[in-house]
Parts: sequence; structure tokens; C-alpha cells
Amino acid sequence: MKKIALFASGNGSNFQAIVDEIEKGALAAVIAVLVTDKPHCFAVERARKHNIPVFSFVPKNYPSKDEYEREIAFYLIEKNVSLIVLAGYMRLVGEVLLTAFPNRIINIHPTLLPAFPGKNGIKQAFDYGVKIFGVTVHYVDAGVDTGKIIAQESFKPEENETLQEIEEKIHAIEYQLYVKVIREHFVSLC
Ligand code: GAR
Repeated sequence: MKKIALFASGNGSNFQAIVDEIEKGALAAVIAVLVTDKPHCFAVERARKHNIPVFSFVPKNYPSKDEYEREIAFYLIEKNVSLIVLAGYMRLVGEVLLTAFPNRIINIHPTLLPAFPGKNGIKQAFDYGVKIFGVTVHYVDAGVDTGKIIAQESFKPEENETLQEIEEKIHAIEYQLYVKVIREHFVSLC
């Protein structure tokens, strides 16, 4: 069974969507660990509810990114993790993890990249007045939401749709698209 590490820093609703698919038997994988840089985030509560191990760390307690990434990499390799799935992990991935898991780290972003990378992507796109919204899943490299695109899904909003309504639609797309990509591109490889 493919072992996945989920990385999250906040609410963890994408993490939850993946857990739910696995528990339904719709995704043949195991979540070996939730890794977080925010020990008190809601994603941690979600993980505990499902008895998923949590690896939490506080970046400022380490002399460098290399140091904490080495600890994470060691842990993941020991657990036989073969795919890292970023789900709202709001931190750049560094050389240590990129080297330890080449082409094995993916991310989801709530816009049609390369437009509107970084934080608050949906609001950035909304304020800009885009006519098509969407979601991107991509390989992770050293940049902010850069890296080769694996899949995208888009939609045209209705007239006068609010930011909140658009956010809801985007999140609903995220939950389905991420599971689909993991199933079709990664789980099937093992
Ligand atoms: C998601 O919308 C994800 O696309 C976004 O953070 C949110 C996390 O929500 N990621 C980025 O903006 C990456 N640059 P969640 O914690 O409820 O899954």
C-alpha cells in the first residue's frame, strides 16, 4: 500500500477529504503521518481523531530549514513514505526534502497557476476580476507554487457570485481533484 505523508499548516480540509476517501476504500493508500509546522492547527485535531500520527515542529526552534527538513526526511524514510502531499502547507520546501523525494512532492493551489501564486490566491483572483477560476495540482520545486503542472480544473462563475460562493466551489473542486490526481498518477504506480 502506498504510504503518503500529508503536510498542512491550517484548517486541513484537503487533508480530511483525502482521509475520507481512504476510509471509504476509494483510495488505496495509507496516510503514514501528518507533518505540520503549526502544532496547534485544526489539521492536527483532525489527524488525532483518525489516529493518524502527527510530526509537528516549530521552525524557529531549529538553526536552519536544512536542520528541520533533515529530521522530517529521516522520519519519512523510516516510515517508508513514498509520496509527500502538501495540503495548505504554507512554507517553502527546501533542498533537503526536494532531494530526498525527487518528483514525489505535490501541492494543490486554489487558482489557475501560474496566475496568483502565494497566499490568498482566491481573493487575489477575485479582486483582479478573472472570468475563469480554477484549481491546480503541481509538482513542488523550490519556488512559490511553481513546478510542473499535473492537473487543472476550471469553472466560470455565475453573474454576481460572491467571494464566499466562489471559495466554496473552489474547495469542492480541490477535494475531488487532489484525490483523483493521487489515484491516477501516484497510487497506480506502485
Ligand atoms: C487550500 O485552498 C489550498 O489550495 C491552499 O490552502 C488551502 C488550505 O486549505 N494552498 C495554497 O494556497 C498554497 N499556496 P485546507 O487547510 O482547508 O486544506
